[in-house]
Amino acid sequence: MSMRSILIKQFGGIENLIIGSAPKPIPKNNEILVQVKSFALNRADVLQRMGRYPPPPGDSEILGLEMSGVVVEADKQDKRFKIGDKVFGLVGGGAYGEFCTIASNQAFHMPSHLTFESASAIPEAWLTAFQALHPLANFKSGNSVLIHAAASGVGTALIQLCKVDGATKIFGTVGSDEKAKFIEKLGATHSINYKTNENFLDVINDITSKKGVNNVFDYVGAKYWNQNLKSLSMDGVMIIQGFLSGSHIKDTTADITPILGKRLTIKGSTLRNRDNDYKADLVSQFSKRYLGLFESGELKPVVDKVFNYSEIKEAHEYLEANKNMGKVVIKGFSYSE
Ligand SMILES: NC(=O)c1ccc[n+]([C@@H]2O[C@H](COP(=O)([O-])OP(=O)(O)OC[C@H]3O[C@@H](n4cnc5c(N)ncnc54)[C@H](OP(=O)(O)O)[C@@H]3O)[C@@H](O)[C@H]2O)c1
Repeated sequence: MSMRSILIKQFGGIENLIIGSAPKPIPKNNEILVQVKSFALNRADVLQRMGRYPPPPGDSEILGLEMSGVVVEADKQDKRFKIGDKVFGLVGGGAYGEFCTIASNQAFHMPSHLTFESASAIPEAWLTAFQALHPLANFKSGNSVLIHAAASGVGTALIQLCKVDGATKIFGTVGSDEKAKFIEKLGATHSINYKTNENFLDVINDITSKKGVNNVFDYVGAKYWNQNLKSLSMDGVMIIQGFLSGSHIKDTTADITPILGKRLTIKGSTLRNRDNDYKADLVSQFSKRYLGLFESGELKPVVDKVFNYSEIKEAHEYLEANKNMGKVVIKGFSYSE
């Protein structure tokens, strides 16, 4: 049996994204088969399209890390989902297809107030943000934080989680004044447009009376290494989950002294290559702690723009041009209201 899917003709630019057919996935034990209604884009999709981020062994070669849809084949062991249930969740790959398999313990029941578009915008960004904030940074109410790429899918989730969890100060770096205003509306207390002010350290020193922030959440990498270390307070924790500016620190003044002097902790992680049990635990903790807050409106999936599957090239182009504030979402092959 085959299905329609967005495929990569060969690694490279957006012209290599084509609509074709692929084998319909067959769910294994502990998996459900979902007819995809909507999926969301991630920076990782762009890297995978270019051949720079292969899926972990065993995961689908088809692009796409998150989707929402309807269960068409239930799991024979895990009875939580039945045919016809609306679900959304995180997958190791395959969300750009007409159908997609997902481990039952990594899927969420879709609350009735969410649309397919908004639900597909949650899993990767919010679980990445949650992983950074809690298992990795051990964030405490009263902490002050610095979030880089703050208007990204992950950044917009992190701002909201920091706010509901009691961050006192939320600094965010962004690349335009429009994005600066946008993150302030979401809950950032101080926005820094790095295109007009490269020195976020001065802003942090000024506002915190040189104490620094408890946590830095970094997605930019090399170019911010020095300022990040200097921005942290005593016993500060920095989480690195991306390196949009590169991973090789070329700054010859790079200095590790603050790590010792301020007893800093630096951790990094990806979500995609974590094992199923880890991801299932993250999904379960996130659901208990935060899913209700989406219903009450305290947390909001931030959907910037919705494209049709036939506009996938334009959607990748939009993301790569850094135009999005929040998530770029695609109506899948089987989209319906
Ligand atoms: N480790 C993990 O498990 C994991 C999981 C998901 C995502 N991530 C990482 O999280 C980050 C955000 O992902 P996303 O999908 O949410 O991103 P996104 O929505 O595509 O947004 C990325 C934003 O980063 C900013 N940016 C791009 N290049 C930059 C540079 N050289 N210097 C400074 N800022 C730059 C741009 O905004 P401006 O206009 O503000 O510059 C861009 O819009 C990425 O680094 C991604 O790889 C990590």
